Amino acid sequence: MAVKVGLVGLRGIGLQHVRAHKADELSDLVAVCDVVKERADKTAEEFGVKAYYTMQDMLREEPQLEMIDVTTGGYENGSWHYEPAMEAIEAGKAVLVEKPLSNDVYEAREMVKRANEKKVYLGCNLNHYFTPTAEKAKAYMDSGQIGELVYCLHKMGFNGGDQTYSPNKNSRWNGFPYAHLKAFLSHPFAVMRYFCGDVTHVQAFVNRPGVRRTASDVMLSTVSVNLRFANDCVGVLLSQRGDCNFGLGGWWSLEISGTRGAFCIENCIEKLTFWPSPGTGKAGSPEKMSGGSLDGPEVFNSGIADFGETFPRRIHAFLEDVTNKVPRESLRANGRDALAALEYTWAVMESYENGGAMVRPHPLPTIHGDPASTKD
Ligand SMILES: NC(=O)c1ccc[n+]([C@@H]2O[C@H](COP(=O)([O-])OP(=O)(O)OC[C@H]3O[C@@H](n4cnc5c(N)ncnc54)[C@H](O)[C@@H]3O)[C@@H](O)[C@H]2O)c1
Repeated sequence: MAVKVGLVGLRGIGLQHVRAHKADELSDLVAVCDVVKERADKTAEEFGVKAYYTMQDMLREEPQLEMIDVTTGGYENGSWHYEPAMEAIEAGKAVLVEKPLSNDVYEAREMVKRANEKKVYLGCNLNHYFTPTAEKAKAYMDSGQIGELVYCLHKMGFNGGDQTYSPNKNSRWNGFPYAHLKAFLSHPFAVMRYFCGDVTHVQAFVNRPGVRRTASDVMLSTVSVNLRFANDCVGVLLSQRGDCNFGLGGWWSLEISGTRGAFCIENCIEKLTFWPSPGTGKAGSPEKMSGGSLDGPEVFNSGIADFGETFPRRIHAFLEDVTNKVPRESLRANGRDALAALEYTWAVMESYENGGAMVRPHPLPTIHGDPASTKD
């Protein structure tokens, strides 16, 4: 039986989610909601579902809804998540929230806490690792071909420069120094944590280029973060928002290297390359400084160039987890995972405000587990 879904927030990203639900056999999109009546009516008519203008009305009139998809935005792309998400949690629904979980870490902590108390699924659209490239990279790790993790280097941001720069006049962005950090870093931090585990130390330098200063744009858009993971792996994250061009690997690249091999994902969903370490398999010899495999590295091209493909893939994973009634702590890209990314973002801001000091991120809530869903 398909999951009965209500969706709230119907602009660009909301419509992308609507299309994903309509195309997914695990989803039965029943109703959509937006406080702007025309948006709700137009979408409802186009997709043959019911329109609502408040969450309260939708929850009251459609008690059969099992899942609420929250695709609202707001200040720093996250201030309108808390209210509809909490209403859905209180109503006992499975909730999928766009990233960031909130633009306020205190609200995000409350959301995760309340979802735990109510024993409902809380997921986040951390879509960047719901890709065939990430799947294959994880398989290299799981089969021991990467070995003990040594470093993780991630570059993620929007390519640009002073010729393409234009000030963001949108009142939900303009005047917020931390808007890029809060709205965007959830993705790279979630990706790095997905592959390398929890982060214990954060140290950051944060900046903005002259073109922004001249335009009196206060947004801090260039970020360099040093990380240490609990497993002793070290990491570097470079993120920017239209300040410059990323060279190798495109707008999204992730290189992870261990004692047995290294991989690099380029352009998120497009390409994965794997290099076995010298002495393993078909690897080249260290004396010749050849570094890679004798036959060249293994290259996997997914054949997908459209980043938009990450949305239906991630939404499908949530629908699968809800359908399969997985234990809440096994929900993929869950609220706690999204909270971790926000805690690291808050640590970046604290580091910046203290001249680049090293910061220990706020601890994550303990996972207690549910005896009823423990099989062994
Ligand atoms: N995962 C990704 O790759 C990705 C990419 C871009 C944006 N996003 C995220 O998607 C989210 C939505 O982005 P957007 O640009 O479409 O947002 P938006 O702010 O332009 O639109 C939000 C819509 O929600 C409606 N709304 C707000 N609060 C409401 C409420 N309580 N009840 C009913 N309707 C309400 C607004 O009227 C508006 O139509 C943001 O959080 C953003 O961070 C994610």
